[in-house]
Amino acid sequence: MTDKPDIAFNVASVEGAELDHIRASLESGHTSSGGPFTARVSELLRAETGAADALLTTSCTAALEMSAILLDLQPGDTVIVPSFTFVSSALAYVREGAKILFCDIEPETLGLDPRHLAELLDDSVRAVVVVHYGGIACDMDGIRQVLKDRPDVAIVEDNAHGLFGRWRGEPLGSLGRFASQSFHETKNFVCGEGGALLLNDPEDVARAWVIYDKGTDRKAFFQGYVDKYTWRDTGSSFGLSDTLAAYLLGQLEQREVIQGKRRGVFERYAAGLAPHAEELGLQLPVVPEHCDPAYHLFHVLMPDHETRTRVMKELREEGIATTFHYVPLHDSIGGQRFAARPTECPVTSDISRRLVRLPFHNNLTTADTDRVVDALVRSMTAH
Ligand SMILES: Cc1ncc(COP(=O)(O)O)c(C=O)c1O
Repeated sequence: MTDKPDIAFNVASVEGAELDHIRASLESGHTSSGGPFTARVSELLRAETGAADALLTTSCTAALEMSAILLDLQPGDTVIVPSFTFVSSALAYVREGAKILFCDIEPETLGLDPRHLAELLDDSVRAVVVVHYGGIACDMDGIRQVLKDRPDVAIVEDNAHGLFGRWRGEPLGSLGRFASQSFHETKNFVCGEGGALLLNDPEDVARAWVIYDKGTDRKAFFQGYVDKYTWRDTGSSFGLSDTLAAYLLGQLEQREVIQGKRRGVFERYAAGLAPHAEELGLQLPVVPEHCDPAYHLFHVLMPDHETRTRVMKELREEGIATTFHYVPLHDSIGGQRFAARPTECPVTSDISRRLVRLPFHNNLTTADTDRVVDALVRSMTAH
């Protein structure tokens, strides 16, 4: 078996002026949060998504935690979260005392299933978290229809995968009251560890800044609205270092180049596998007509769990790294502990056993994607 794959699953790359910006940040002396690079990234995110404000955080998890604080959750409150997501989408609300109702996904976009959402919705629900899996929007029409008589229920987009994707022409991240972004090294745009909270309701902006700044009105002080800053509310130290914002700005300035490269990888996989899909029983990503993907990843659904295990092993032996997603939350130890009540998520349970993510990064060459397609098809036809 090859120890180190020669086609790695993910490689974070320098794409533009990252190193120059980092140097400028270090030389400026302002390396803590709230500096000039933070301001530039925040402005770029606001312009691209239309958000009322964009606060750079240390991670997507931290941004979700801010949304949980802003929701003012009370004992007995619940939050609906897909079982098919990363832990943070649920954990952030658990930390604020809410219980979770785990919702299933629908089998094409792998986004929240509006029919199950309708079954789960009750008076205890304060928020619904939606994840645009891989950067392909979930069924927002269906979800909004279910919530149409519940203006008290906030939609939170965990948009870790979706920056610069669109749904019916609208930016992902602009479709709920809050959206969280991730700039972790595994995402499309990286700064090591980082995130952002997009605020789409202007009413949340003033309190969000207090929560962000350790519960103080420091922002209002620097804007000249108060003559000293003091403790006002709960909060924490959520701000991203300006040096990491400098790194991130270098990445985001190259957004068209990066998204173009990732789109190329996605399309080469799709074109290479499509002719074999039916015969091999492979399900490829489904992109609904009204969705522009953010090209975060490329997944395939294998016919069964045993085939997935075997194919991943055989690809690994050929030096090709693949991985899977997600270990369902509803039957995890934490999920059971923090659920409001047990719920059934059969689609999640099935898909999480069959899904394989192929190597995906900005600089994967055509030779690489051809090799992956060839190895996958060979592995599946040999048996
Ligand atoms: C859907 C989703 N939400 C949140 C996160 C957590 O992001 P971060 O590491 O920036 O906290 C991830 C990480 O992979 C994710 O996939």
